[in-house]
Amino acid sequence: MQEEGQEEGQAEGQAGEAGGGRPIRKQRDQWTSRVGVIFAVAGSAVGLGNFLRFPGQAAENGGGAFMVPYFIAFLLLGIPICWAEWTMGRMGGRMGFHSSPAIYGAVAGKPRWRFMGALGVLIPIIIYMYYVVIESWCLGYALAYLTGSIDLGNDPSAYGERSAAWFGDFVGIGANGLGDGGVATSVYLWALVFAVNFIFIYRGVSRGIETFCKYAVPAMALCAVVVLVRVLTLGTPNPELPDQNVLNGLGFMWNPKSSAADGAWVGSLADPGVWLAATGQIFFSLSVGFGIIINYASYLQRDKDVVLSGLTASSTNEFFEVCLGGLITIPAAFIFLGAAGATGGTFGLGFNALPVVFLYMPGGAFFGFLWFFMLFLAAITSSLSMLQPGIAFLEEGLDINRHTSVTLLGLLTGAGSLFVVYFSEGLAALDTMDFWIGTAGIFVLATLQVILFGWVLGVDKGVEEAQRGAQINLPKVFRFVVKYVSPLYLLTIFALWSNQNLPGYIESLRQGGIPLVTVGVIVGVFVLFLVLVRIAGSRWDEEAAHHQG
Ligand code: ALA
Repeated sequence: MQEEGQEEGQAEGQAGEAGGGRPIRKQRDQWTSRVGVIFAVAGSAVGLGNFLRFPGQAAENGGGAFMVPYFIAFLLLGIPICWAEWTMGRMGGRMGFHSSPAIYGAVAGKPRWRFMGALGVLIPIIIYMYYVVIESWCLGYALAYLTGSIDLGNDPSAYGERSAAWFGDFVGIGANGLGDGGVATSVYLWALVFAVNFIFIYRGVSRGIETFCKYAVPAMALCAVVVLVRVLTLGTPNPELPDQNVLNGLGFMWNPKSSAADGAWVGSLADPGVWLAATGQIFFSLSVGFGIIINYASYLQRDKDVVLSGLTASSTNEFFEVCLGGLITIPAAFIFLGAAGATGGTFGLGFNALPVVFLYMPGGAFFGFLWFFMLFLAAITSSLSMLQPGIAFLEEGLDINRHTSVTLLGLLTGAGSLFVVYFSEGLAALDTMDFWIGTAGIFVLATLQVILFGWVLGVDKGVEEAQRGAQINLPKVFRFVVKYVSPLYLLTIFALWSNQNLPGYIESLRQGGIPLVTVGVIVGVFVLFLVLVRIAGSRWDEEAAHHQG
């Protein structure tokens, strides 16, 4: 209660304006410093995607060749949409709104856009439901290194198998449930991590998220640099295997190669799968199309710069991703396990291969702890950002206080996340949410946002708004890119992606079981938010009418 009073007080005198300069409501909370907001947005962006997802995707999709579509997607989609989100978010904040439904409606000047904005609440909330589960695995592994409880036996030829089995038991891959054969230990950690997220969220944007990120982001950078130095100074740890050295490890990650079994590396660039992977990675990594940046930017003071801040936060993310994530995981796995051990999906690499690497590495227990603790910090600064859009929507849509909004969101995300923990067999629930929301949903929301900015608000008005208070000029080409190139690029990639992936996933839904139930859960939550948007919309209209009267 006390902090609510403080927040309201802090926002006093910050009444917003509707489109025509008409003040309608007060901003609820604000970032206290520019560095704070950059740390918060960078903290949201830097996450498991940078350290686990990126290296796996790059190594599987052409190594150095992957960086061509990756940087093209960064320049033509990531940065422009990021600027659009920052700009629209700050506009919304000036009108006293912080949630996507309210901001979309206000920016478009059309109430029906509020319903599209419901996706900007649904997406981060559903992603939170499974992301917090993986976050608790990271903490679990960090604690296991601290207490020395990861035991992979004494037979090097069985390390890989033992490591996979340890992970499987820990997360309950073999069976659903919370008890035997399920996730007995990790369920307590999940509950702990879940609660920690809500404690920070309860403290609010400036006292909770900003304060935490100001410490957590530098701490994770420090941990990552220490691990990086360790990996880069490994030399050739096993003289009997001279090829498995640092340089070859870096080469394995970064030399351009073909995404097919054999062929020239440029062939990778003709492979639509490589472009899809690169684009999906940019979105996931920058937290673009999540409904997060728009929410965070709404807490900026009215004329604070968005252009340089957006660019700084995105560049920080790229530094963490390419320079830290890209130089640690795969090279380390290659040095100790060779080419065969340095492949595998996100979880295979992060939770199966790396524990074996730390077993071989001098000082491995310490570095194992540091690595997984760093992943935990990276994950929690991201998961906090997935909760705030929901909190903002409940508070301003239903006119409830922090205590009630945190309770309601806690119950909803708690039920959804427990669903993921319970249905752990084959990680079916997690995988289904990640596919429909963490991949497809993000494409859809990013497309809606770029159309809203470039076509509905209008690119000229959007640029004028972005430039207000900006410390650098937007590049001239931005207008053309955001209006034509980004939407077309997105629609093309989305069509290719759907063609490649949808048939398989639709088939898995036909077979029923957990994937179908999971999609039912997602649809149920979406319908709930559509209903709430309807109720909230009526309230906002009444408020505006009252003001006009
Ligand atoms: N952007 C966040 C990540 O990379 C979600 O993990």
